[in-house]
Amino acid sequence: MSNYHIKGLEEYFNVYRKSVRYPEKFWEEIAEEHFVWRKKWNNVLSWDFEKPAIKWFEGAQLNITENCIDRHLLTNANKTAIIFEPNDPKEAAEHISYGELSKRVNAFANVLKAQGIQKGDRVCIYLPMIPELAISVLACARIGAVHSVVFAGFSSSALATRINDSSCKMVITSDGSYRGAKTIDLKGIVDEALNDCTTIESVLVAKRIHSDISMQEGRDQWLQPLLDAASTVCEAETMDAEDPLFILYTSGSTGMPKGMVHTTAGYMVGTAFTFKNVFQYRNDDVYWCTADIGWITGHSYIVYGPLANGATTLMFEGVPSYPDFGRFWEVVEKHKVNQFYTAPTAIRALAKENLDFVEKYDLSSLKVLGSVGEPINEEAWHWYNDNVGKKKSPIVDTWWQTETGGIMISPIPFATPTKPTYATLPLPGIQPALMDENGNEIKGNQVDGRLCIKFPWPSMARTIWGNHQRYKETYFSAFENKYFTGDGALRDEVGYYRITGRVDDVIIVSGHNLGTAPIEDAVNEHPAVAESAIVGFPHDIKGNALYGYVILKETGEGRKHENLRKEINQIITEHIGPIAKLDKIQFTVGLPKTRSGKIMRRILRKIAGKDTSNLGDTSTLLNPEVVEEIMKGAL
Ligand code: WTA
Repeated sequence: MSNYHIKGLEEYFNVYRKSVRYPEKFWEEIAEEHFVWRKKWNNVLSWDFEKPAIKWFEGAQLNITENCIDRHLLTNANKTAIIFEPNDPKEAAEHISYGELSKRVNAFANVLKAQGIQKGDRVCIYLPMIPELAISVLACARIGAVHSVVFAGFSSSALATRINDSSCKMVITSDGSYRGAKTIDLKGIVDEALNDCTTIESVLVAKRIHSDISMQEGRDQWLQPLLDAASTVCEAETMDAEDPLFILYTSGSTGMPKGMVHTTAGYMVGTAFTFKNVFQYRNDDVYWCTADIGWITGHSYIVYGPLANGATTLMFEGVPSYPDFGRFWEVVEKHKVNQFYTAPTAIRALAKENLDFVEKYDLSSLKVLGSVGEPINEEAWHWYNDNVGKKKSPIVDTWWQTETGGIMISPIPFATPTKPTYATLPLPGIQPALMDENGNEIKGNQVDGRLCIKFPWPSMARTIWGNHQRYKETYFSAFENKYFTGDGALRDEVGYYRITGRVDDVIIVSGHNLGTAPIEDAVNEHPAVAESAIVGFPHDIKGNALYGYVILKETGEGRKHENLRKEINQIITEHIGPIAKLDKIQFTVGLPKTRSGKIMRRILRKIAGKDTSNLGDTSTLLNPEVVEEIMKGAL
């Protein structure tokens, strides 16, 4: 029996039991056998969910890039590490071997050093899905700089907020990016953001779309000439197990985005272990995760998890609809992809199109299909299973979060029998609990509640950058001595988990987490707006879409509502990005409020979702009459 690679259901149960009974021994064995360390740990785990303070493999020293790159060089230097598939299918794909990856990462690391970046400095990466993105992430890790990747669909003001929050010293970007038939002026967005940033000393610019951009003397430099001049040998920095590896921002239900801090050793062990088991990766497989490296899925399951296992990982620059809706399947056929990992929103969008787009291609290489980011509905699950997997590739519905670093609840393919819409069973080392509203754990099966985790796991985030108090309040205060996920879940008669969705004010739109508060703040900036409230409502493709209730300062006839709607969405695009645009905007005279002045979102959600048969108790409202009014004007 191997702890590291689980191959059957019985083995899973044995390993799981062991991981709960002797968690430290369990993780220690995995850490011993499957990674290279410069120095071993003194202590596997110390934890306190009250403070909270969590440390894994304390005293150990390592560099994650030695585990993701160097150690594969002896035996596998010629194996492809990264396949780059460009936006335009006519442009040739690039195969980057482990040997070449090593050289490119080292050269990049030397460039960073020459620019004055040192261990512990924060580097913001704002790049499209081109090889430089993965390489710059690894180059930061090589020298101990903390990367903060910002998804290149965020607006300049969202970028500035993130740069300032963690006082980054450098931005790595490109002249622009391709997105289907469109190009996006990334450098222009960076320039705008930097008007509001004081900590950035230099900007490195990769050439991608060869657009005419302006370079600021003394601040901006083209990347390629620097790389060409750099040595391809760079000694890896020695990192302590708990040194920060990266910061990644995620939306909270209130205020500023949260800069989740992940540390080195635990994150490496956790992502490598889960990658191996959840995708059952074998030596010559080609693995493809369609996420963007700007999200946690890309960090853990395009870069770190696969490379720590010496895998071949595919990076796709484009979109599923370009040049047509067959693109995903064309890429699967072309590169003979064995494991394919995507989001329900993509599946739903593709399921709407003609089946010819799928049937045209040879998908026989596929062995495992994955889903992540939001609940996968029954129809989408079956469409994926029938048409992509041809009923022979198990679907792993993987539940996890930016905060958890790695997959927490998921079937192990060919071991755990799958069940549509169920993430099924916790992976080894993960101890879920369902809690009731009074803070008690709900035992037994066929129950539902709030999903918590009762014991630490190696890849969990350790803090929120610059705000440990918020980390404590958000995750460790709702339930005593437990990590609270913010999700609801039910446990069926055999103990399988089904995630039912967020129980806070985070809304998942097309797999992207959006907090309502920052969007409301943006809407309220419009000079005509007095107040607003945003809720989610069910949407065929996006899973959820956003519905805004807006009170105008003057309800006069002077302004056209259609124009206002456009202007409001324009402000949102500028403040956050196009992903946060409102699908529906209802102008209203009031919002239902409790006597203490809180907006009753429950009612607004029901109206937006056209589910008004039972609005629940409205008697505690300050202004119950407004509910009727809003229902009349509902869109
Ligand atoms: C949701 C993405 C149902 C959930 C890795 C979680 C899911 C949030 C699933 C985290 C799933 C993720 N089934 N819901 N398989 N996977 N979620 O931080 O609400 O972008 O809390 O991490 O996505 O989103 P995040």
